[in-house]
Amino acid sequence: MADSVAFAGTSKRERYAELLPQLASLVDGESDLVANLANITAALRACLPIASWVGFYVTRAPNELVLGPFQGNVACVRIAFGRGVCGTAAAERRTIVVEDVDAFPGHIACDAGSKSEIVVPIMTGGRCVAVLDVDSYERAAFDAVDAEWLGKVAELAATLRW
Ligand code: SME
Repeated sequence: MADSVAFAGTSKRERYAELLPQLASLVDGESDLVANLANITAALRACLPIASWVGFYVTRAPNELVLGPFQGNVACVRIAFGRGVCGTAAAERRTIVVEDVDAFPGHIACDAGSKSEIVVPIMTGGRCVAVLDVDSYERAAFDAVDAEWLGKVAELAATLRW
């Protein structure tokens, strides 16, 4: 695996394009899920200066997400499927981009400073095994570009040993 990650690009497309091969290298040959998820969050945080929080919520019981590896402030631990942005993304198995968290009914405010958010489900065999959640202190920090590239990160994460 690589010892560090680096980004030269200034646009987020460029930085995501630099991120993907570095993520593949980070997880290559390592079978430990927690270690791999932890490294993915650290690399994503380095890639996305606009992110205030990057982390995984893992499906641990039927229809319940539990906090996994993350970078940022302490966060709520358990989220039921269907609750908040994370639980809605897991239940509906779709990526959700929230430009303004105050306008999302049921948003769970782990960090009062968070203003926008994107949540991407990680699917294996039709099952949502986890979600990837990225928050920002800026409004409308995430858009279709993030949905596309974080979708690729989720596809890579789906290849890990769940
Ligand atoms: N805001 C999320 C909860 C997780 S924290 O943002 C880390 C939600 O509404 O599901």
